[in-house]
Amino acid sequence: MHDLPAIAGLDGVVAAETVLSEVDGTAGRLLIRGYRLEDIAGHHSFEWALGRLWEGFVDRPLDEASLRRDLGAARVVAFSELRPLLGLAAARSPMEALKLLVAGAPDEAENLPVQLTAVIAVGLCAATQMAAGADPVAPDPALGHAADLLRMLRGTPATPAEVAALETYLVSACDHGLNASTFTARVVASTRAGLASAVTAALCALKGPLHGGAPGPVLDMLDAIQANGSAEHWIEAALARGERLMGFGHRVYRVRDPRAEVLKRAVAHLERDAGRIAFAEAVETAALAALACHSPGRALQTNTEFYTALLLEALGVPREAFTGVFAVARVGGWVAHALEQVATGRLIRPQSRYIGPRLHVA
Ligand code: ACO
Repeated sequence: MHDLPAIAGLDGVVAAETVLSEVDGTAGRLLIRGYRLEDIAGHHSFEWALGRLWEGFVDRPLDEASLRRDLGAARVVAFSELRPLLGLAAARSPMEALKLLVAGAPDEAENLPVQLTAVIAVGLCAATQMAAGADPVAPDPALGHAADLLRMLRGTPATPAEVAALETYLVSACDHGLNASTFTARVVASTRAGLASAVTAALCALKGPLHGGAPGPVLDMLDAIQANGSAEHWIEAALARGERLMGFGHRVYRVRDPRAEVLKRAVAHLERDAGRIAFAEAVETAALAALACHSPGRALQTNTEFYTALLLEALGVPREAFTGVFAVARVGGWVAHALEQVATGRLIRPQSRYIGPRLHVA
């Protein structure tokens, strides 16, 4: 055995230059195309954010109204094109089904940025409905992406307050520097494999519990703590077993993730279950205190997934679909980064340091 070199997780390594977003982990600041997250999440639609992300990379009308119309039409096309695959997807969890459905998108198709964005939303909703034993709900092209997503996902129309909350989430999650899934998208794009391939690979990277798979387990953790009765005891026992507290810690942020604050406000605006939010806040306080004792040298703070879980729960999204809803938002960033990589980057091909035997003599 050997100690992992500091390079093992590529900490601090700059692997791309981008005009898309900047994550300042010390100041707790996220800029998307030059806008502070707090100034756009809760103020603009997902289509608006997509337009800003894709400017300069996607050659098509990118104003909010055009994207809303074109995404609506693309959802209708996706719904009919995905139909033949739904039989195969039906026996899988929503995220496994989504992998299958997105992988079916050809790299050569026209208008791929809009199509892939539509396929992820429609595929997730169809898979979630089928996992619940229901028929997929057909898209309504007249609605905005967030409103139609909630409608197709739950089978019931969304209220304006629910749509506003989901828009806030989708904008807050649309891009975030060189996170694991975005890096994956850029690596695949750098081989010129194509946009659909880059997005499929990114989706697979997102699925893991250390990245986009965390919010479902955040709710599992809250449920377990509620059943146990004492946040302090449950958290201490979990840390003693070497487990990670879901929704805490981040590779880059050493202070509170700015998305956590934006999402916490959005949950509060929904005015759903004040008791649940108060309970979650108490767990957050206990978790931060325990993490400070347990890892004093490491500033572990609340990450975006903690309040994402509460927001999506309040919106009635089934927890198996949480990671998929993350993908609905992050596909905007994956597409932009993949196209930026092709336009400005080179083949990504780092090296490994060989530490095996020098020479075997037979
Ligand atoms: N709970 C308990 N301990 C933690 C946590 C946590 N959530 N996060 C980090 N630590 C500890 C580690 O055990 C480690 O301690 P050690 O050195 O004594 O072993 C130390 O902090 C450093 O951990 P690393 O794994 O090196 O930190 P890294 O930057 O690789 O991890 C990560 C970041 C994966 C997010 C981690 O904090 C984690 O596992 N969090 C829980 C899962 C989660 O919330 N994921 C969502 C992330 S946000 C997103 O992707 C959108």
